[in-house]
Amino acid sequence: MQNSRNYSKFAAHSFSMNVLRTKDEIGRYRKQLRHEGSSLGLVPTMGALHRGHLELVERACRENDAVLVTIFVNPTQFNNSQDLLKYPKTLETDLDKLKALHCTVSVFAPEVSEMYGDSPSARTYDFGNLEGVMEGVYRPGHFNGVATIVEVLLRLILPDRVYFGEKDYQQLQVVRQMVRQKNLPVSIIPCPIVREADGLAMSSRNTLLTNRLRKEAVFLYKMLEEVKNSFGTKNANEIAEFVREAFAAHPDFKLEYFSIADAETLLPVGATDETKKYRAFIAAYLGGVRLIDNLPLN
Ligand code: PAJ
Repeated sequence: MQNSRNYSKFAAHSFSMNVLRTKDEIGRYRKQLRHEGSSLGLVPTMGALHRGHLELVERACRENDAVLVTIFVNPTQFNNSQDLLKYPKTLETDLDKLKALHCTVSVFAPEVSEMYGDSPSARTYDFGNLEGVMEGVYRPGHFNGVATIVEVLLRLILPDRVYFGEKDYQQLQVVRQMVRQKNLPVSIIPCPIVREADGLAMSSRNTLLTNRLRKEAVFLYKMLEEVKNSFGTKNANEIAEFVREAFAAHPDFKLEYFSIADAETLLPVGATDETKKYRAFIAAYLGGVRLIDNLPLN
């Protein structure tokens, strides 16, 4: 693979990983890549890496000469301080997982102060309709925090391509809008959701489930599949009613929202239009763990 050629220059020795900690180091790294004429793919993450993240990284490796993975638990996107404290921080294991891939990547793992100075705060963006639905409603301020760190990373790192998972579909749409609004010169590459063998979407939060609840968790995906099967024969209101009743009857799940929405605008579907793409979205609590998932319907 081409990027191992490029990367050997950055690694302290061939078995260690190139872990950058400061903006200055990123500046030098970027300059070197530009000098070589190497394209750069960026995969922003908050760590606690699983197969879902690693597939983004592997795709970035296939499509770019060099790949940078950022591992940064971004404080400004957590609207709940307990959630931030609970967020798994596993840098050493994450680095081992990246080293085990058949491609060479560099990692940017800065301290909070390096990215935000003394007092982390989010910028305010106008996402229009995108923030008035789903995660925007239940996690106020979350997308301002996400867009703030993504904008900072994109301006600092200047990648050719940046990779986002459809697991966080609304985040993907928000980032697309921010990149359009700010006119940032980067291609956004959406990547399909990676699932466990039973269908549960991979997530760092799955590790917070007890064994018993982990087995129950697949219900979320099963509901989305049922929605997909009935889309086109039942109307959106009937489907929503069915989903609400199924969740109400489940002893462990608490449904937060269900929506069938236009995949572009994320506005809830009225009458369906053959020319448009639709997706179903669910957020639900399972034993205190908040899970989200979504599925394309057509
Ligand atoms: P994080 O939750 O760590 O996710 C990093 C990237 O991995 C996101 O683009 C997310 O959609 C993708 N991802 C997670 N699980 C996935 C799965 N099962 N299948 C496919 N892709 C998956 O999302 C964030 O971090 C942060 O908000 C971030 C963008 C890094 C900004 O702080």
